[in-house]
Parts: sequence; C-alpha cells; structure tokens
Amino acid sequence: MQQVGIEKIGFYIPQFYVDLNDIAKETGIDPEKYHKGIGQECFAMPSPDEDVVTMASSAAQRILNDTDKVAIDTVMVATESGIDQSKSSAVYVHALLGLSPNCRALELKQACYSATAGLRLAASYVAMYPDKKVLLIASDFARYERNTPAEATQGAGAVAMLISAQPKVAVIQPHFGLYTESVMDFWRPNDCATPLVDGKLSTRIYLRAAQEAWRHYQAQTGASFADFTAYCYHLPFSKMAIKTHQQLCRDNGQDFCEESIASGMIYNRVIGNTYTAALYLALCSTLDHRDDLENKHIAMMSYGSGSVAEYFAFTLQKDYQQALFSQQHQQMLATRERLSFADYEDFWHCRDEGSSSDVLIAHYSAGDFRFAGIEAGKRIYQSCL
Ligand code: HMG
Repeated sequence: MQQVGIEKIGFYIPQFYVDLNDIAKETGIDPEKYHKGIGQECFAMPSPDEDVVTMASSAAQRILNDTDKVAIDTVMVATESGIDQSKSSAVYVHALLGLSPNCRALELKQACYSATAGLRLAASYVAMYPDKKVLLIASDFARYERNTPAEATQGAGAVAMLISAQPKVAVIQPHFGLYTESVMDFWRPNDCATPLVDGKLSTRIYLRAAQEAWRHYQAQTGASFADFTAYCYHLPFSKMAIKTHQQLCRDNGQDFCEESIASGMIYNRVIGNTYTAALYLALCSTLDHRDDLENKHIAMMSYGSGSVAEYFAFTLQKDYQQALFSQQHQQMLATRERLSFADYEDFWHCRDEGSSSDVLIAHYSAGDFRFAGIEAGKRIYQSCL
C-alpha cells in the first residue's frame, strides 16, 4: 500500500496573549483553579486584524516553499469560526498564498473534529494520486462569552499540514475508530457570535466519545492500548486530556503514565483551545519536545462537540526531526506580547466575523497576512510579506 502522511507541519499563533492571572485578578477567582483545576496558564488572543483566513495563510506560508506551492492541487481549511456562509476561507487562503488556479479549495466543518476528516480525505486522495499534494489547515478562534466559566478556555491559532506520498514526518495508519452521537453540549446558532455551551455535559460527552472511538478502533485492529509511545488528545484545556487518558488507562488495565501525554500539552497550556487545530497543535508539541519517537506509534484522539470522535494513529519516520519547524515555533512563543486586561477587553469586543458593514481596521498583527477591513460587504486582505 502507498505510504501517505505528513510531509510538513507547522503552526501560527497570534502575537498577543492573555495571562490567566490577569483574568483571575479581575474576576476574583483563585488562579489555582486555572493552573491546577483546568491546567492552563495563558491563551492566545487574535488582534482585530486577524481571523481564520489570516492565521491559516500565515501558518501555511511559514512551512511551504515555491516547489510545494506548485505541487498543491487541493487546499482544505477546517474551521468553526467561518467568516462567510457561502465562500470558503480556503478560497481566500488559496489567493493569499498564490497557489495554482488548477486547484480545488473548500472549507470543512464539524466543531473541533473536521481537520481529522480532512486528513482522512487527503490521505485517501494522495494514496490514489501519489504525485499530488494536499494543503490541509486547521484554523480557529475559540471565543467564549465574557464572565463565564468557559472564558478561561479561549485561544486561537492555526496548524498547516502538507499531506503527500513523501511523508517525511509521519505516516498515517489506515485504521480508525469512529463514534458519532447527536448531543447538545456545544453549538453556535447563526445569530450568535459565541457558542452556547453546557460545559459540564461537554466534558462527560468528550470522555464517552473517546472511550467509544477507542473501543471501535480496538475491535477492528486488535490493538492494545499499550501499543503507543505517545498519545495526543483534542485539547480544550490540558486537564481534559489527563482525565481522559487516566480513564482509558483504567479501562484497559494499564498504569497511567503522564510522560506519554505530557509533551503534547506544553503548547496548549500557553495557547489555549484552538478548536480544529488543537489536536494537531498537540502533535506539534509532542514532536517538538521529544526526540525518541523514530518508528514509534502515536495515538490520536480527535473530538468535536455535537459530537464526533475518531481514534487513529501515526507512525513517525526516521529523521522526522529534520522536517520540523520547532525553532520557528519556539521563536513565535518567545516573542509574544502580554495584553493588559483593558486591551484584552477591547480586542474581545472589536471582532468582525462575517459582518457586511464597511469598516477599516488598524494594523496590529505580526502575521504574514492581515484582515484590513470590509468595503461594500467584501472582506479585504493584505499581505505583510
Ligand atoms: P467551571 O464551572 O469553571 O469548572 O467549568 P469547575 O468548577 O468544574 O472547576 C474546574 C476544575 O478546577 C475542577 O476540577 C475543580 O475542582 C478545580 P475537577 O473536579 O474537574 O477535577 N478547581 C480548583 N483546583 C485548584 N484550586 C482551586 C480550584 N477551584 C476549582 N481553587 C468547564 C469548567 C470546562 C466546564 C468550563 O471551562 C467550560 O464550559 N469550558 C468550555 C467547554 C469545554 O471546554 N468543554 C471540554 C469538552 S468539549 C470539547 O473539548 C469540544 C470543544 O473544544 C468545542 C468543539 O468541539 O468545537 C469545547
């Protein structure tokens, strides 16, 4: 069988972040609730001139060279923070990156899960056409209502992956375990800027979906839960992965070992939830912080509220570290700016996802592309390269 998988993977995060100590101070909540209770330190906050298109384009721009761009004939953007009900963010991204016109472009949606569906589609496509390359980007702004328990679990960012038959980083394994159940744990009606969330229910459903997806995977493959060297989870906040991993270890009669998930949570603790990108940010975090994974299997648990889960695995390639963008990632994190609480409030309120009213937006972003405003209902993007 043709081996396919990740040839390149890298992320982009906004220049600005909010420290949860500042939220704790303003709200009178014990900061330990954030640090220990949900396992988070900070969250990334997009500036008013960033959206899923600019974050996705910046993530892709930073991993692709001109040869890659010529070879890409499919671009998919997975998001639940869409900026238009009809035109896909992938078409804007395609234009900003200067990809070939002989290309297909589309957007995928199912809460935080859809990038995994995109990965499976891309892998099947490349297996059939090994000379083709697919650009798959997960890009989201996890934005919750102010002064709610979910506010501390915000975040933003994009992960770009080049999927091809030269999988220098990781080969995607053909097996998968699936679980879908319609539940009202988290959803966002068209007239709502932030999701409606039954937070406690969502954590129970996440856990059940992970158990069921793993059972389906195991039933089909005969795999043991101990077959994997590292485990990546969808990360709304890091404690969710710890609890789920503990439960799956118990279910499978295995001792809980935090080391097998710890490296995957490092970026999430300081970036926050990135919805569709969160699982793949966990993968970047694992790859950037471990050097012992050559030829090893990594378990992936993808979850999107509503709800869909998929369990699958990657096998890491020899010399995978040479294909990573670890230094670029560390540099982005090291040069971020902490927002004051007042600036956070301004940024939070100054959002324009999908409006048709004319607006001109000041330049804040350190990304490669920015959202400059709306003219006659049309979104205007600019390159900062
Ligand atoms: P809450 O009401 O703030 O939390 O909501 P809590 O009171 O349950 O406290 C959280 C934890 O902190 C608890 O620990 C407390 O004991 C502990 P636990 O009992 O769970 O082990 N705690 C403390 N620890 C130390 N010192 C203290 C202290 N005080 C309390 N002083 C909730 C938490 C997650 C529900 C909320 O943040 C929320 O609604 N978040 C948004 C929804 C969410 O992230 N759900 C996760 C699963 S669903 C999912 O992942 C999909 C998603 O990404 C969306 C998509 O798919 O598109 C969200």
